[in-house]
Amino acid sequence: MTKFMLLFLLLPIFFDSSAQQTQLQLKTTKNIILETADIALVLNVEENKDVNMVYLGNKLSKSDEYTQVTKQYKQANDYTSMYQSAYAASGTRSLLEPAISVEHADGNQSLDLKYIDHKNDISTAGKQHVTIFMKDEVYPFYVELHYQANYQDNIFEQWTVIRHEEKKNVKLTKFASANLNLKSDDFYLRSYHGDWIAEMQPETERLTHGIKTLDSKLGTRTNLLMSSYFAIGMDKTWNETQGTVLLGGLDWSGNFRIDFEKDPQDNLRVIAGINNYASHYALKPKTAFTTPKFTYTLSTKGIGEGSRNFHRWAKNNRLVDGNGERLTLLNNWESTYFDFDEKKIFHLLENTKKLGVDLFLLDDGWFGNKYPRNADTSALGDWNENKKKLPNGIASITKEADKVGVKFGIWVEPEMISPKSELYEKKPNWVVKQTNRPEYYFRNQLVLDLSNPEVQDFVFNTLDQLLQKNPSLAYIKWDCNAVIYNAYSSFQSDQNNFYVDYTLGLYKILERFRAKYPKLPMMLCSGGGGRIDYGALNYFSEYWPSDNTDPYDRIFMQYENSLFFPAIGSANHVTTFGKQDLKFKIDVAMMGKMGFDLNLEELRPEELSFAQKAVKTYDNIKDIVWHGDLYRFSNPRENNYASLAYINSDKSKAVMFNYLTFYNHVFKTTKPIKWQGLDPNKSYKVQEINLNKDDKTIAENLILSGDFLMNIGLNPVLENNRRSVVILLTATP
Ligand code: DGJ
Repeated sequence: MTKFMLLFLLLPIFFDSSAQQTQLQLKTTKNIILETADIALVLNVEENKDVNMVYLGNKLSKSDEYTQVTKQYKQANDYTSMYQSAYAASGTRSLLEPAISVEHADGNQSLDLKYIDHKNDISTAGKQHVTIFMKDEVYPFYVELHYQANYQDNIFEQWTVIRHEEKKNVKLTKFASANLNLKSDDFYLRSYHGDWIAEMQPETERLTHGIKTLDSKLGTRTNLLMSSYFAIGMDKTWNETQGTVLLGGLDWSGNFRIDFEKDPQDNLRVIAGINNYASHYALKPKTAFTTPKFTYTLSTKGIGEGSRNFHRWAKNNRLVDGNGERLTLLNNWESTYFDFDEKKIFHLLENTKKLGVDLFLLDDGWFGNKYPRNADTSALGDWNENKKKLPNGIASITKEADKVGVKFGIWVEPEMISPKSELYEKKPNWVVKQTNRPEYYFRNQLVLDLSNPEVQDFVFNTLDQLLQKNPSLAYIKWDCNAVIYNAYSSFQSDQNNFYVDYTLGLYKILERFRAKYPKLPMMLCSGGGGRIDYGALNYFSEYWPSDNTDPYDRIFMQYENSLFFPAIGSANHVTTFGKQDLKFKIDVAMMGKMGFDLNLEELRPEELSFAQKAVKTYDNIKDIVWHGDLYRFSNPRENNYASLAYINSDKSKAVMFNYLTFYNHVFKTTKPIKWQGLDPNKSYKVQEINLNKDDKTIAENLILSGDFLMNIGLNPVLENNRRSVVILLTATP
């Protein structure tokens, strides 16, 4: 046969278009539809038993029209009809970024998941839970895809349960929680990077073809350098009130990995889950592995609505006592650091009372005897009161607090261990470290191996004993300052399981703790905002955004946190950081749960009386801030000022916070700021609050309608000598 003849014979293969049209030939046998109040998510089960995610967007009024969705797309070739897979498996037909990849017991790395069945449970509590059961065609390997639609909140939660019946362990080399497929002309990603005292720094970029990954490999304190929470704008214009926006994040406190892959068809695949870095998880036969939840909302009316969805959902489903009350407090960290004794603390209890806040929080430094905790170089793990500082123990402080009439709370960092500690001497194999390499410290400390059940018991018992001995302890601040270096667990037989089992161990402890102490207020602190996620926030009532308490920086950080996390969870303390006056500092702290970390003796008498009055003012508005809806009017990164408001549920009360974030003598807000979210038919009394004694108000006897405030607006008159302005609106009868 000549070369020419061979080419002629092969030509039909080169030009066979059937391979290029597989997507068009797909026959959908079932639509699985999840709906919330406004949004729908549609999955198709194809004739070949593939499951595809084909729609996420506004709910349609005729649900039978979802079957038409895919027919309207004539995109580029999808050679294997896998681009829209609801959970792309690797090693067979899919060559895009996988959601799952495995190494079977026999070493084979192929997986092709096929639909078996699904169930659709709709609860009376407004939750729709769809489970799709899938199995590999060859191996006894099973995956359940879980989708939960929270009807009222427009929030979807997605997770996966993986199990197998192979003869030996299977290695999960990637095991995402979710694999979304989004369609739009363009995708803009707003993600968050940062560092200690500079958390939640946003960056926005247009996503191009290829893969962009957000991840953390820090083990603990995993948001120190990056958050797993992000926003995707899907229209050219996407802002607070306009555009289609997806807000999401992984509810997981360990290493995470979110891949954004703009695929050859120009769709965006979002694959979110635990980071597979150094974690090719060994899964035993007949043992289910449940991934953490990937939580997201879609708003077609801008970011603001997406945030309100997140806040409502978090208050109802995640934060401990999310719709309850919070304790205002005085903390001693920045006023004493490690240098205190019983006498000083008794005095601080008096100051707590004097200031008018609810609780005194004793920070780091109260423990350790052989190695006293007088600096951050020792004693973590030795959770006994230091006899020199507290000769009569915590019990005498709680007794004194009772006498003074304030509550008392305490700091702990139970996951950690100091190399200079009795615990380290007794239990060196409880420590995460490479036994054959030099130790490497983060803040002079190491991490306890929470993947070890014995260590889990130790941590639980530490807290339990503290509370049993001191039942009136009213608050815990749980800190976590170190990342994991030299990751190695003496307990694990397969080091691949360490990172994942560490975080699961942490959750086991917190689960046990919450079973016994369901409502005890507890702050999630991680050397600042190193751990802010809805996996951990399931067990905490509030979080600490940053050790940076300069109110200027806090305006920006609190603003970005507010995209995902509600104000009731944001612990904001007034400290000596920052050159602003006390009013500015207090105004910023009021946008959340207010606390103080100040030496009252260092305040001038007029400052002290201002602070005392501000606590009372806050008591009047905190209900609106904690339980109301947030509307952001001005982003300080886009304008020279920040402006936002909380509005209560019946729209009868609102509080607006405004801050000048631009340092210039002549700049002022020349135009009114338009409100959102008010009742246009209500008339509101406009009052400027938290004013210094001699400050002039812009709102004397002013009554304006919601209609006016939303169409014309209100000018808070921010200028050089009015850098922060708080306005209270009260509907007139
Ligand atoms: C880091 C925290 O973020 C601070 O607020 C303080 O509690 C210190 N740790 C104490 O060591």
